[in-house]
Amino acid sequence: MSPAPLLALLGVILMLPGEQALVCHLGTLEEVWNASQLPVQWTPKQITCDSGQGCQDTLVLTENGPLVSLVLTKGCTEARDQEPRVTQHQTGPGISVVSYTHVCRQGDFCNDLNDTAPVWAQRPGPTPAAPGNLRCPVCLSTEGCLGNVVEESCPSGSTQCYNGVLGFRGGGISTNLRVQGCMFQSACNLLNGTREIGPMNVSESCDPKDFLNCHRGTKIQTSSDLAQKPVEWSTSGVQACGSGQVCQETLLLIDVGSRSTLVGSKGCSEAGAQDSQVTSIHSRPPGVLVASYARFCSSNLCNAASSSSVLLNSLPPPAASVPGNLQCPACVQPLGTCSQNSPMVTCPKGTTHCYDGSIDVRGGGLTTTMGVQGCVSSSSLLNHTKTIGIFSMHENNVEVPSPPDGVASAPALAWVVVLGLSLALWCGGGFCLSC
Ligand SMILES: *[C@@H]1O[C@H](CO)[C@@H](O)[C@H](O)[C@H]1NC(C)=O
Ligand SMILES: *[C@@H]1O[C@H](CO)[C@@H](O)[C@H](O)[C@H]1NC(C)=O
Ligand SMILES: *[C@@H]1O[C@H](CO)[C@@H](O)[C@H](O)[C@H]1NC(C)=O
Ligand SMILES: *[C@@H]1O[C@H](CO)[C@@H](O)[C@H](O)[C@H]1NC(C)=O
Ligand SMILES: *[C@@H]1O[C@H](CO)[C@@H](O)[C@H](O)[C@H]1NC(C)=O
Repeated sequence: MSPAPLLALLGVILMLPGEQALVCHLGTLEEVWNASQLPVQWTPKQITCDSGQGCQDTLVLTENGPLVSLVLTKGCTEARDQEPRVTQHQTGPGISVVSYTHVCRQGDFCNDLNDTAPVWAQRPGPTPAAPGNLRCPVCLSTEGCLGNVVEESCPSGSTQCYNGVLGFRGGGISTNLRVQGCMFQSACNLLNGTREIGPMNVSESCDPKDFLNCHRGTKIQTSSDLAQKPVEWSTSGVQACGSGQVCQETLLLIDVGSRSTLVGSKGCSEAGAQDSQVTSIHSRPPGVLVASYARFCSSNLCNAASSSSVLLNSLPPPAASVPGNLQCPACVQPLGTCSQNSPMVTCPKGTTHCYDGSIDVRGGGLTTTMGVQGCVSSSSLLNHTKTIGIFSMHENNVEVPSPPDGVASAPALAWVVVLGLSLALWCGGGFCLSC
């Protein structure tokens, strides 16, 4: 090895232990305020960064008439150090956009912006008091501009009414801001070509096909009969979508016989989703039932299913179940794993195993691990399904072969636990057939 790489290697080795992990302020905020309510202050959480990372502060203020949108993200970053910088992306008259960015490594909590005041003070300046002749609808909202548009006189110098949507993605932020207001130019150019602000990608569109509004909300419900009885599935929220997004509604049902759970999400899709509607049965009776409904659609508020019957109507009618001679613990837990002393149930005829595992569900405003125990006839509930509608799925399953015959509850449980251990040993020894 030549001396230079050797030195570099030594350098790395010698430097690593000395390189301190920084502690940074952490947090996100995305909200529209009344300009009269500013300045706004915040109390962030904290995070210990990976070695080598810096702390970052990013704030974007969009001012539109009486309203101000605030998008804030603080946390760790790989980015290089950067002195505090205020950038005026759009100066008005009319709508203005100003951002603050800072990346530092000089000490813990160096991303210490805790107030809008320093950035607000450097915005383009109050719009001229003298109103012009133009009037425009004015709206600034992450929930779309449906009911909350007011018409205002524009400041002098305004020549156009602006109608667009700004997208912010990254640094823990994922939001779309609908903007209608007064502008002094005709271009769709609030961001003046900026594509990134701190850790966020920013985008802008004035194409009405990108102004979709969708119902928004998540649902988690557990009960004994959700596979039989439809329940309400409405949401109170509305969300403004961004470029390329459509509306989605996704519903997942898990029924282990004695208990059932529904997990649902409504909102905007990821960019690029195509209109579709799919109902799937991932695991069918006898034993645990896992079924889902997923719809993507591209008209305003089209994700409007109001009941879980959209899924239940596609399920096969429940067959009369004949008890077999297997017993299993039965549990479905939408927010966490099942305990080791779930109630035992007698399995229906046709099932061959006790299932004990969990399913990770991510997306559409949800991040959860759902514990499942019950009677099954195959080792997987999802059969490698990776996505259901807006959800990313991951199954952590432990298949436990059936005991020789229906053993009573306490011994059965002990047996199951012991067998689980020996299965793990077999896997380690290379005899892993079903892992
Ligand atoms: C803003 O604040 C003023 C004064 O408090 C109030 O009259 C007005 O309704 C508020 N507007 C919005 C959009 O909150
Ligand atoms: C917009 O960008 C151009 C070129 O990058 C720059 O010259 C101009 O000053 C910017 N305008 C505003 C309002 O920031
Ligand atoms: C905000 O930051 C300033 C300067 O960094 C500090 O003096 C002040 O105490 C902070 N305020 C709060 C409420 O944390
Ligand atoms: C930002 O855009 C870049 C380039 O298009 C992409 O690689 C990256 O994943 C985007 N980041 C986020 C958080 O969307
Ligand atoms: C699981 O998926 C594979 C293909 O991905 C398919 O061939 C098989 O029939 C499925 N099994 C069940 C039980 O649905």
